[in-house]
Amino acid sequence: MQERLKGKVIVVGGAGGIGDGLAWRYAREGAAVVLGDIDGDRAVAVAQEIAASGATCIGTYLDGGDEASIRELVDLAVTTFAVSMGSMPTMPGSTMAIRPAMSPTSRWKTTTT
Ligand SMILES: NC(=O)c1ccc[n+]([C@@H]2O[C@H](COP(=O)([O-])OP(=O)(O)OC[C@H]3O[C@@H](n4cnc5c(N)ncnc54)[C@H](O)[C@@H]3O)[C@@H](O)[C@H]2O)c1
Repeated sequence: MQERLKGKVIVVGGAGGIGDGLAWRYAREGAAVVLGDIDGDRAVAVAQEIAASGATCIGTYLDGGDEASIRELVDLAVTTFAVSMGSMPTMPGSTMAIRPAMSPTSRWKTTTT
């Protein structure tokens, strides 16, 4: 891997399926990954596996259909990795990549539920 994402922090929604694959790939590329899933135990377990491989990943509960929950996930990323929103490029794990700071909530809700 070329670690093309070194220094980036990426928030991923969904610790199964596509989200699981994205989290692994982003972490292998050097990003610090914050992985959220409505099954919080699953998110923590996947994050621990990723971290055990030598990458940086934390897992937590997320309800991707709840704006407050998304905000908590982003806040966790910001406080854990001391980044500003400008350093967080996408909210993947849904049907499209989303920039939380730039997408209207109405659009974000339709792409995450
Ligand atoms: N798999 C595909 O080929 C494909 C293609 C195009 C679009 N999609 C879409 O991408 C999304 C993810 O697909 P997938 O195959 O990874 O699904 P999946 O069912 O394998 O994984 C979904 C993960 O999201 C978690 N989850 C469910 N509801 C959640 C919520 N409200 N908040 C947080 N986490 C939640 C589940 O616990 C699970 O771990 C779906 O919306 C799907 O329709 C999938």
